[in-house]
Amino acid sequence: MDVIEKLIAGHREVKEYSDISDKLAELINNDAFFWDNAVRVTKFFKKEVREHFAIEESVLFPLLEKILPPDVLDNLSEIENEHGPIIKKLDELDRISLQHLKYPSKTTRELFVKVCGEIIELLLPHARREDGDIFPAVRKIFSDANYRELENLYFKYMES
Ligand SMILES: [Fe+2]
Ligand SMILES: [Fe+2]
Repeated sequence: MDVIEKLIAGHREVKEYSDISDKLAELINNDAFFWDNAVRVTKFFKKEVREHFAIEESVLFPLLEKILPPDVLDNLSEIENEHGPIIKKLDELDRISLQHLKYPSKTTRELFVKVCGEIIELLLPHARREDGDIFPAVRKIFSDANYRELENLYFKYMES
C-alpha cells in the first residue's frame, strides 16, 4: 500500500466509526456499554485521525504544493484549513472523556454524543473532498519520481 492508498483507507474507516458514533445515542442510559464503544471511537480519533492529519500536513501536502497546478492548490489550501477546527473538536472530546473519568453522568455522555457527532459530520465531507478533488489529481500528475519522493518523506517522518 502506498501513502495515498493508506490515506484513502483511513477515509473509509471514518465511515465505519460513524456507525459506532450513531449507536452511542442508543446506549446513552447504560454507562458501561456506552463507554465500551465511546473508547473505541476516541482511540480511533487519537491514534488514526490525528496521525492521518499529521502525515497529510507534514508529508503529502508540502510535496503537493510543489507539484499540483494552481486550481487544485486553491482547493488543497481550503481542505487543509479544515484540519484546524476538527483538531479543536478532538481536543474538546478528550476533555469530555476526562470529565467522564471524574464525574460519570448522563450529561457527560450526552455531551460526548454531541461532539462526537459533530466531529464525524466534519470528517466525512473533508475526506470526500480529498478523495474527490485531491487524490485523482495526484494520480493523474504524479510521476514515478514523485511517488518515490513521497515514500521517502513518509519514511523520514515515521523515523522522526
Ligand atoms: Fe485531511
Ligand atoms: Fe485525509
